[in-house]
Parts: sequence; C-alpha cells; structure tokens
Amino acid sequence: MNSPFYQSIVDALPQAAIIMDSNLRIQCANERAQVLFNRSLEGVGFVRILRQPAALTCVSSTLETGEYNSCNLLLRLNTARTYMASAAMLSREETASDEDLILFTLTDISAEIAAEKSRSTFVANVSHELRSPLTSLMGVVETLKGPARKDEVARDRFLDLMQGETERMSRLVGDLLSLSKLEAKEHVAPEGEVDISRVIRRIIAVLAEGNPIYKGRVEFIEDKTLSPIQGDRDELTEVFQNLIENALKYSAPETSVKIEISKDTESLKWLEVAITDSGDGIAPEHLPRLTERFYRVDKGRSREMGGTGLGLAISKHILNRHRGKLWIESELGQGTTVSVKLPL
Ligand SMILES: Nc1ncnc2c1ncn2[C@@H]1O[C@H](COP(=O)(O)OP(=O)(O)OP(=O)(O)O)[C@@H](O)[C@H]1O
Ligand SMILES: [Mg+2]
Repeated sequence: MNSPFYQSIVDALPQAAIIMDSNLRIQCANERAQVLFNRSLEGVGFVRILRQPAALTCVSSTLETGEYNSCNLLLRLNTARTYMASAAMLSREETASDEDLILFTLTDISAEIAAEKSRSTFVANVSHELRSPLTSLMGVVETLKGPARKDEVARDRFLDLMQGETERMSRLVGDLLSLSKLEAKEHVAPEGEVDISRVIRRIIAVLAEGNPIYKGRVEFIEDKTLSPIQGDRDELTEVFQNLIENALKYSAPETSVKIEISKDTESLKWLEVAITDSGDGIAPEHLPRLTERFYRVDKGRSREMGGTGLGLAISKHILNRHRGKLWIESELGQGTTVSVKLPL
C-alpha cells in the first residue's frame, strides 16, 4: 500500500518518520529514516530495525489503545544519540483507509539533553563556588561575635580573611556576568581597532605593579611591523590578561615567561601570540577540558590564588567572537605554551 498520500505525509515531517500497518510492517518511510537506518525500509518488519523493548512497547500500546505514546531511546546507529520515539494511530475511520496505520517518528533530542545537563551542572558549580566563601564568612562572623570579640589582633586577621572571601565572590559574580553578556553577543562582530602589542605591554606593567612576584619575569618579543586589528580592546585585554597571569601564577616565581607576537608566516592573514612558561605543565587528559567553565586542574591551588576557573572559558568566548583561535600545548614538568590567533 505505498500510497503517494502517506508518502507525502512522512516526507513533510522534519524528523525520521515511518508509517506501518498493524502487523508492524513498514509501508513507507521518509528520506531521513532511510538515512538513519542506512537501508531502504519499505516492506521491512519494524522489529528488524528497532529491537529496543521500549520502542516495541510504545508502538504496541498505541496499537492496542489507539492513544499517542512516546519514549526516549538511546540508539547506536552511526553514533550514539538519544531520540524521542513517538507512535500515533492513523485510524481507519479517520483516514478512510481499509486498515489502521501507525505513524512512528524519531526525533533527535541529544542536543536538548546535553544543554539541560550542562545547565544543571552549571547551576551546581555556581552554587558550590559561592557556598565555600559564604561558609567561611559565616564562620568568621560567628568567631568575631563570640570568642574573638575583644581580641584586636584576631579581629584584624579575620577582617582580612573576610575581605578576601568577599572579593572572591565579587570576582565570581563579575565573571559570570561577563560570560553571559559574551554568550549573548557571540555572533556580533566586534567594532574598534586594537594594537595588540600595546595591550600586552600595558598588561605586563599592570600585573607587575599589582603583584611583586610578577615583576621582571616577562620577556616580550615584539614585531614592530604589525598593524592594529579589528576588535574590542577591553575584551582582548581580558583574554591576554588571563593568559599572561595564568603563565605567571602556574609557574615558579623565579622562572620567566616569554611572549612572542608575530604574523603567520604562510598566509600573513593571522596575528599570532604565543605565551610560553616553564611551569608545572598540564597533563594531556586535562588539555581538552581547560576551556570548560570552572574546570581547574588543581582546584585547591587555583582557588588559593583567587581563581574562579572561568578565565579560559571567557577567553574562548571572546576569541570566538573575534573569529580567533586558542590552543594549548603542554608537557608535564616542562611548561606550557598557549597560542592565540586573530585575523589581521
Ligand atoms: N600556563 C598554565 N600552566 C599550568 N596550568 C594552567 C595554565 N593555564 C591554565 N592552567 C590550568 O587551567 C585551569 C583553568 O584556567 P582558567 O584561567 O580558566 O582559571 P583560573 O586561572 O583557575 O581562574 P581565573 O582565570 O578565573 O583566575 C587553571 O586552574 C589551571 O589548572
Ligand atoms: Mg586564569
């Protein structure tokens, strides 16, 4: 019965769709379904293509009750993906056909599931990151109200601690805000002109001024022929500030950091900045995950240094917006090179 009418119904659907008879023999299928199962489906028994009990239950209860049914299925066809399977009855009374038919569809919902998972992990991470400074603040306030009430030395120490924790929370909230702003404008091209060498020179000066252990450690190899690039100065400052600070803070105070800026020698279309430190390095299993929000190799160490673990995630978003690239090469015990490419 492959009537053109039923074929046009499945062809009009955006997801993989098949129509089968009450013996679960496939009558027609759209292109998406054929591609998904990598075979022609007409005349094939439904159980031959999908053996999952959940799929069979879904179809047979629709057949029994005439009601719509759906379930989620993890299918390993080309790659493992999650689908919402649905079965709906096309009853003979309504279609004026001589038999009951079932419309079965498979909608890929992997992206929604991943987004939902990432959202809930994100909320859990944010809560966790806020909870630790809050807990410590609560403890300090308690001590200040009680045992340390009249102890002036302890009071000063506790006030310093409170200042540190509140600053950390404020940095975290600031970073979260800038992440969400960046996500909103990721597809809008940045305006303005930026002299990257100048930006880097300023960052080196600001970092050295802010922290004595960063002083005199950076060697900057410039290329005077480079012209300014199109971009947002504040955003690019944030990227290089984080990368240079990472290089300085995740390596020993007596070691130096080399920054080299150059034009891509082949195409001359890219500006390249390579930041090399001789710090502890990063084990290969961590490398692909470093730009995830809150991902840190050594949580305790990063937190101790006031890090939120959002620096590289923010940098990556900014570089995406600038159509730039970031990659990290590292060897444990040898050091790390973080490279950035920006279109000239
Ligand atoms: N040059 C580096 N050498 C060794 N480890 C690094 C280096 N750069 C980054 N990392 C690792 O990558 C992690 C993520 O870096 P990221 O800049 O995102 O966060 P952070 O520096 O911990 O916090 P923040 O940037 O918010 O201050 C760091 O916690 C650290 O473990
Ligand atoms: Mg950082």
